[in-house]
Amino acid sequence: MNVDDLVFTVHGPTTAIEQLEVVVDLYRAAFEKPPAEMEQGVGWLTQAWARRTSAPGFRLVVASHDGAPVGAIYGHQIGESWWESAIGIPSDVTKEWPGRTVAFIDMMVRPAWRRHGVAKRMHALQLADRAEERATLLVNPANTNARAAYIKWGYERAGAIEPVAFPGKSYDAMLLDGLGG
Ligand SMILES: CC(C)(COP(=O)(O)OP(=O)(O)OC[C@H]1O[C@@H](n2cnc3c(N)ncnc32)[C@H](O)[C@@H]1OP(=O)(O)O)[C@@H](O)C(=O)NCCC(=O)NCCS
Repeated sequence: MNVDDLVFTVHGPTTAIEQLEVVVDLYRAAFEKPPAEMEQGVGWLTQAWARRTSAPGFRLVVASHDGAPVGAIYGHQIGESWWESAIGIPSDVTKEWPGRTVAFIDMMVRPAWRRHGVAKRMHALQLADRAEERATLLVNPANTNARAAYIKWGYERAGAIEPVAFPGKSYDAMLLDGLGG
């Protein structure tokens, strides 16, 4: 298993719209969730796909081996509503303007392909030639593997977010400053 055997495809909005099935398939393979929560997650992903792919700055990176997708990351620019459930994050951080921040929504690698630098490579392709000045993402504090990756890539914890869509859950809001924009 070698990351150099993979093909990395970067999709903009036009071709990403046709990749929903691939993304859902990877989501099911990567996330361990109870069945009802999994179906809810897939439902939200599916429902939001047209809106997400048409958001400014949308990009989807898919890693494939012999034509079979093994990982993906997608994200797009955000508005201030992203931060509306923020806890303990200063207003100069939660302030948004068009093009300030790209958020990565889902990052997933099939279990068999983990720890070979697939996410690292996909993340680098997400950041390449970005116009935004910073990147953000949410991580469950108990997700130590993902958290370790984000810290290694230079993200810092800005505070917590308790999304309206996930009552009772708290996520670490991670920020990576100093992108090209
Ligand atoms: C998080 C995830 C995307 C990482 O993918 P990956 O391709 O295995 O990550 P990489 O191989 O590029 O590793 C990047 C860094 O993450 C950290 N990391 C990843 N897996 C780790 C593990 N099992 N233990 C400790 N650190 C880990 C390491 O710092 C690693 O760098 P290193 O190997 O040079 O030490 C993958 O584990 C996954 O799909 N998890 C389930 C879905 C998920 O939780 N997604 C993130 C939340 S949206």
